[in-house]
Amino acid sequence: MSNNSYDARGNKDASLGKDPTRAVGGAIETQKTKHAPTKGVAGEPYLIGDAMSGGYGQGPDILHDCTIAVNEGEIAVIVGPNGAGKSTAMKAVFGMLNVRQGAVRLGGEDITNLTPQARVAKGMAFVPQTSNIFTSMSVEENLEMGGFLRRDDLQGTIEQIYDLFPILKEKRNQAAGELSGGQRQQVAVGRALMTQPKVLMLDEPTAGVSPIVMDELFDRIIEVARTGISILMVEQNARQALEIADKGYVLVQGANRFTDTGQALLNDPEVRKSFLGG
Ligand SMILES: Nc1ncnc2c1ncn2[C@@H]1O[C@H](COP(=O)(O)OP(=O)(O)OP(=O)(O)O)[C@@H](O)[C@H]1O
Ligand SMILES: [Mg+2]
Repeated sequence: MSNNSYDARGNKDASLGKDPTRAVGGAIETQKTKHAPTKGVAGEPYLIGDAMSGGYGQGPDILHDCTIAVNEGEIAVIVGPNGAGKSTAMKAVFGMLNVRQGAVRLGGEDITNLTPQARVAKGMAFVPQTSNIFTSMSVEENLEMGGFLRRDDLQGTIEQIYDLFPILKEKRNQAAGELSGGQRQQVAVGRALMTQPKVLMLDEPTAGVSPIVMDELFDRIIEVARTGISILMVEQNARQALEIADKGYVLVQGANRFTDTGQALLNDPEVRKSFLGG
């Protein structure tokens, strides 16, 4: 059965996030420099994990020649079965895995050997699949923690995040652990945005939330991308995520199985049959 409910909601839909005063983080600046020659390798995506192989510690390779990339202001989505290596690919791109072969480049710069902290300083932010908030801290304290690397005033960015997620403003003094699943994910995304990243990496941001809340989260993610921030995300809700994806990656056993635009993957009979439930 085809699901057309997302047809008007792609990242190219201009109806959302047009107001630059609602831009998050360094977004306004990012937009201005959007077409500046930041790419070291001609035509290369802004962030690329290029032909990565590697695994955990001294263990066997989990990733095999795996390539994941995202352009500026675009949404790239990684889908695939459980255990396919989606989270592992994200960790590799963020510097949490021993990449034995291949490279990670950001804006043309080789960052393969940088620590995760150094990557944050370069403009990358990562929301992991689990334990992505401080449950005993208030919503606002979580946001402040997200900005702890910054030396400047955080208040402006906090207000931008409250504009993006108004419910967080209402609950700013409540312990984050008391919030609903969808609200906790908003806290996690908000915390990541506190560093004013150029690239936002999300591992299953809609895990365990209702379809309506998922829809809303996707809308906010689209809004963030519109401000010029690149989004690289893993999603279990493959069909809905590909609807908003500029680029999609189907991973199987640590390797690229299909790579195309979100729309093309949705239209591919083989992808539909094997990965999207027909
Ligand atoms: N910390 C770890 N140490 C050793 N092996 C791990 C570790 N984390 C994951 N793995 C292994 O790596 C493989 C890929 O796991 P990964 O978590 O990347 O899959 P995934 O596609 O994110 O799955 P899911 O959809 O369940 O989140 C699995 O075989 C898993 O057992
Ligand atoms: Mg995972």
